[in-house]
Amino acid sequence: MYEIIQAPMAGGNATPALAHAVGEAGGLGYLAAGYKTIERLKEEIHSLRALGTDYFGVNLFVPAKPNNRTPSIEHYCEQLLSEAELIETTIGDYRFSDDSWHAKVQLMIDEQVPVVSFTFHLPTADVITRMKKAGIKTVQTVTSIDEARQAEALGIDEVCVQGVEAGGHRAAFDDSDPVDAKPLVALVKEVVAAVQIPVVAAGGIMDGAGIRAVLDAGAHAAQLGTAFLCCPESGTNPTHIKALLSGKFTTTAYTRAYTGRLARGLNNDFMMRYPDAPQAFPEMHYVTQPLRKKAAELDRADLLAMWTGQNFSAIRVMPATELVHVLKKEANLL
Ligand SMILES: Cc1cc2nc3c(=O)[nH]c(=O)nc-3n(C[C@H](O)[C@H](O)[C@H](O)COP(=O)(O)O)c2cc1C
Repeated sequence: MYEIIQAPMAGGNATPALAHAVGEAGGLGYLAAGYKTIERLKEEIHSLRALGTDYFGVNLFVPAKPNNRTPSIEHYCEQLLSEAELIETTIGDYRFSDDSWHAKVQLMIDEQVPVVSFTFHLPTADVITRMKKAGIKTVQTVTSIDEARQAEALGIDEVCVQGVEAGGHRAAFDDSDPVDAKPLVALVKEVVAAVQIPVVAAGGIMDGAGIRAVLDAGAHAAQLGTAFLCCPESGTNPTHIKALLSGKFTTTAYTRAYTGRLARGLNNDFMMRYPDAPQAFPEMHYVTQPLRKKAAELDRADLLAMWTGQNFSAIRVMPATELVHVLKKEANLL
């Protein structure tokens, strides 16, 4: 039984080495399937198993419908093109992708992945039935009581409650829903009271006291993302690591500027320039892709997307196995 979970982190942060290191300390490590090709995802699953980790999770992005190209999207793309030209690159095509949804679901079944979590939307009932038949434990990321109830009604095994403090994309089923600024512990208590299935808590948890607080609120495990960003096993971009540790960034904020979906990151100049960036995920992810790639090459923290949770100032730089041990000790879990 694990009480500490390493969050799936798409964008290269959640490597097989990180998930393995967390598993070695008795935690649950996740791989992130988001944006990856089937081949790459399969390779990562095989690498993790080759390291000796049999119990792990994989997170899938559940696709929605394509977004029409509106005049405000058109205008934003023009602004992005000017940004890109300043660093001698271009922007990507405005295109929809379902992130190879059906092939990824089939891969989870073929590979008998022990735990599969879903983010952004609910899968269909048929997907849950197939996963259950394959003996896979299913988890749904939720941001409200209503979403947790919908997940339970669908037959999902467990919910991961994501609070407003969390780094990365907000997992609300409808991205236009107003943000509920309720702190994580309060939200966890409400969800625990509203559903019968087990609850995991995520968002801003950086130490044993944070873990203890959500366990006391009724969660069975705490899921941490930002806390693992500076572990040597993580694949976090060096510009992002420097920005986390330099003291130059003191706040995080929500933005749609990079992907067209609300996400929390270090509050840099780029995010501040486009506070009203339009909603269009995943299309805008593909539009900004070359810009983000070039920003990383140029070590430009003012331009790079650096997903980070609110409490990042408490980040620790240490091997992930050691970090999980320290967290367990602090939370009186040893
Ligand atoms: C860099 C980064 C990437 C993330 N990518 C994903 C992802 O691919 N899928 C997902 O469900 N959550 C993703 N998240 C959100 C985490 O699952 C989790 O909700 C969050 O990390 C918890 O907040 P914390 O970062 O303050 O610990 C990401 C978070 C970060 C920081």
